[in-house]
Amino acid sequence: MYDLIVIGAGPGGYVCSIRAAQLGLKVACVEGRETLGGTCLNVGCIPSKALLHSSHMLHEMHENFATLGLMNATADVDWEKMQSYKADTVATNTKGIEFLFKKNKIDWIKGWARITAPGKVMVGDTEHEAKNIVVATGSVPTALKGIEIDNPGGVVVDSTGALALPAIPNTMVVIGAGVIGLELGSVYARLGTQVTVLEYLDAITPGMDAEVQKAFQKILSKQGLGFQLGSAVQGVDTSGERPRVIYKNKKGEDFALDTDVVLVATGRRAYHDGLGLDALGVRLTERGQIDVDGHWATSVPGIYAIGDAIPGPMLAHKAEDEGMAVAEVIAGKHGHVNYDVIPGVIYTTPEVANVGLTEAAAKATGRKIKTGKFPLMGNARAKAMLEAEGFVKLVVDAETDRVLGAHIIGPGAGEMIHEICVAMEFGAAAQDIALTCHAHPTVSEAVREAALACGDGAIHV
Ligand code: NAI
Repeated sequence: MYDLIVIGAGPGGYVCSIRAAQLGLKVACVEGRETLGGTCLNVGCIPSKALLHSSHMLHEMHENFATLGLMNATADVDWEKMQSYKADTVATNTKGIEFLFKKNKIDWIKGWARITAPGKVMVGDTEHEAKNIVVATGSVPTALKGIEIDNPGGVVVDSTGALALPAIPNTMVVIGAGVIGLELGSVYARLGTQVTVLEYLDAITPGMDAEVQKAFQKILSKQGLGFQLGSAVQGVDTSGERPRVIYKNKKGEDFALDTDVVLVATGRRAYHDGLGLDALGVRLTERGQIDVDGHWATSVPGIYAIGDAIPGPMLAHKAEDEGMAVAEVIAGKHGHVNYDVIPGVIYTTPEVANVGLTEAAAKATGRKIKTGKFPLMGNARAKAMLEAEGFVKLVVDAETDRVLGAHIIGPGAGEMIHEICVAMEFGAAAQDIALTCHAHPTVSEAVREAALACGDGAIHV
């Protein structure tokens, strides 16, 4: 009898298992993949960051080396080698989780789980018992009606297939200008592929601050990505030699685009197939996610759920936070997640990061808002790095000076955002950031300057 069986070993499930074990619970984690780590480590965050890193290096060589005085540099792209670097990166991380499981005495039950009753989990022919069950089964790409994905090695792929194409294509059509489309589109654009992004909406990166959307699209366009906004993809015709993407513009006119590879990146959906939730009476939301209360409890006592399988942003770190918190709840402590302070990062070059409210969302709450914006053109370090295209923007309550949100485009944006996350967790005012000494020369000084811009003014602009 276990205290806890966690189903799924992605960032939600494995973090939950470790925290529960640290709190003295007897824990097992069921995972059917060959390796631990879920989508994030195996076919998501980690492999994509490996390809983003190597393609970024190539891009730096092409775009900036000569300016830096590094002349005549060349590099042949060895796709196979790049793939094996990616595989090594994944392997060291997934093995790391296996090590952590052993260290914390967590049993890895290999196989696919089915919950037969509260407290009972079938894996293969064996029934395992636990006082509590946490479902952390994540998400899968959503299929677009009429489009068949042929991972791996195919020509119409989702993110999993796009991470392991047999060769670098000459042309690629990306359907969807969300995080996946732009990160993987960037990888291939830097490797020489002519990338066209078709997006249904009038802006890229839905939900982001409007100023970021505009500036980011401009930067990516300069890097060679083509955008056709207001394009509703209807289907992909694969009967010819190359796939043909069929789409309509806002006026309803029909268009077609022939390409080598199509990447479908139109979102993900909660995944809990085969768990038997229906028969157990576990309530789902209208969108098919597992419905939970404020303590991640489902409608069936003893069964909890976290991560991409429940509502909220589909982010590894949100799942991790919920994993730790639900472990604490099950151990009789007070687990908590502050959903107002969950950062989001797009790992392109430059990086894009945000936390909290956009300017539009803050205004929609009805309160008085002020913003402080600082362009990286005024930041010495970013200029020295030839990466001074972006900015830092703070969204602040005009009456209390409290920081409500932050939006950054720039080198290391995904690291810099955490200074603002900590400030927001402490309920900081923009003035608190403005009065904090920041080392010079760092890109982080731009955060302080944006905070100064909320008061008497930034210095270097
Ligand atoms: P997304 O929801 O971010 O973007 C999908 C885009 O596709 C939307 O802009 C939508 O308007 C567009 N679209 C949908 N149907 C369309 C059609 N028929 N024709 C044209 N455009 C269409 O989804 P994405 O990029 O697939 O990412 C899935 C999830 O994974 C997201 O929740 C994302 O946050 C997460 N993720 C996060 C990463 C990160 O934090 N760095 C990296 C990768 C994924």
